[in-house]
Amino acid sequence: MRTLPPCTIILFGATGDLARKKLFPALHKLHGELHEKTRIIAVGRRDYDDAGFRSEFVTACDLDKKGVSSFCKRILYHRLDFDEKEGYVALQRKLNNLDPEIRDRRIVYLATAPEAFTFIAEQLTKNGIAVKNPKHGWHRIVIEKPFGHDLTSARNLNKRLSKRFHERQMYRIDHYLGKEFVQNIMALRFTNPLFNRLWSHEHIDNVQIVANETATVGTRGGYYDTSGALRDMLQSHLLQMLAITTMEEPRSLSPDEIRGKKLAILKAISRDAKTKKSIVLGQYRAGVINGIMVPDYTAEPGVAKRSRTETFAAMRLTIKNKRWSGVPFYLRTGKALMHHYAEVVVTFKPQECKLFCDIARRPQENILAVRIQPDQGVELRFNLKDPENEHVTLPLSMEYSRAAEFGENSKEAYERLLGDVMVGDQTLFTRWDEVEESWKIVDALRVSNTKIHLYDAGTHGPDAARKLLTDEKREWFGNRSIQCLHCTK
Ligand SMILES: NC(=O)c1ccc[n+]([C@@H]2O[C@H](COP(=O)([O-])OP(=O)(O)OC[C@H]3O[C@@H](n4cnc5c(N)ncnc54)[C@H](OP(=O)(O)O)[C@@H]3O)[C@@H](O)[C@H]2O)c1
Repeated sequence: MRTLPPCTIILFGATGDLARKKLFPALHKLHGELHEKTRIIAVGRRDYDDAGFRSEFVTACDLDKKGVSSFCKRILYHRLDFDEKEGYVALQRKLNNLDPEIRDRRIVYLATAPEAFTFIAEQLTKNGIAVKNPKHGWHRIVIEKPFGHDLTSARNLNKRLSKRFHERQMYRIDHYLGKEFVQNIMALRFTNPLFNRLWSHEHIDNVQIVANETATVGTRGGYYDTSGALRDMLQSHLLQMLAITTMEEPRSLSPDEIRGKKLAILKAISRDAKTKKSIVLGQYRAGVINGIMVPDYTAEPGVAKRSRTETFAAMRLTIKNKRWSGVPFYLRTGKALMHHYAEVVVTFKPQECKLFCDIARRPQENILAVRIQPDQGVELRFNLKDPENEHVTLPLSMEYSRAAEFGENSKEAYERLLGDVMVGDQTLFTRWDEVEESWKIVDALRVSNTKIHLYDAGTHGPDAARKLLTDEKREWFGNRSIQCLHCTK
């Protein structure tokens, strides 16, 4: 267990959806590890006092009931409307009155709509709440995604924030990086010669990276309709998973070494005319997910009636470098789909069949699947002799399940990431040049007249996504066991 230093966490947007669903539950789980003096200042415009916020808001979050009352004692509420400058003056006064051990070590978490980031940042520095060069201690600022809406807006946002903070103070969240099995891609690759030696176009046929959701846009239609799957998922989670899967081996695990290697991959990702033609976009219409009827995307609250926003994207990317020459990377993400899961599946090239080459059942490709969520683990497929048939093989799997081995799944991503901010470790946060390069890719691939394929909620998405692979004589793999997604058995 790490020692987390005493500090003050100032949470803007403390009454929002993210705070309720993720941040307070993560902080509550970290409670036992937090320094006894650490305090959380929940900033919101609603009319609460400390006791009211704790009893009405915090306890209504999805928390494990154990230890809630002692956790609540850490939380102070500060009423502030983002646009009213007096609130910031009062906040700084409140901070100055805190115990000296936590007063000068400040984490400001911006869990607010992105449009509020720059105004809040300006007020933070003007009032000394968080500044570029604090006289004592440290000030860190956590910025929720999305970091910008496109390359231009991201550059503007970064320009404004960099005037006020050093890059080393900025923690841009991509919560997928906090997932243990995204980090395990590195451990698996770089500590096992079995995989490390085979990790290139010479031995790998293709890689699939999937982040599918059963959830619809729910109450976030207003935000999502201005975003869509490419901005919301490709720009951040999918490109980060791709970069980690394919980057060159870093010389060390230092944040800048790893982020530099990821950046080199992002710069090499194809964005040419051929790549643009290999993108399938979709939008869900009414259907049944897990027995529940969901409406058309365009009937969701906050969504424009004639919206062309994509809720699904599948694509074939390539990486223009020596290691990955000619290898297709198939990425896929969507909302309102049949299964909720994220995984990376690496298919190795078959070898020429010399032995055990039964015509009806030839040995199959080796496949490595890294399960990221909800299951966490690794599966490897290989061929062994069929006990019933001489000279014939069967494809079989070896599986490691994190939950079966260690009792429960790993720390929630936000729990891990919040701890990292406290100890000042930026490894799992995206550096500005990575964000900039990801937006360049997304901007290049977002072609306004791309066809939007409608798909029924509760299915695997549009048929055109299946065709993307079958046209190349390949299949998408489904979740949980290595088998073809669209096959009936
Ligand atoms: N929710 C998610 O699952 C999720 C996932 C990934 C990233 N994010 C990102 O996290 C951030 C927050 O998202 P969210 O879903 O939590 O948004 P949200 O539910 O709309 O919450 C926004 C928060 O900002 C507060 N707020 C808005 N205007 C204010 C003002 N003028 N003065 C003071 N407070 C004000 C809201 O207060 P009221 O409660 O009083 O309205 C609320 O606490 C966004 O950047 C989003 O993109 C969210």
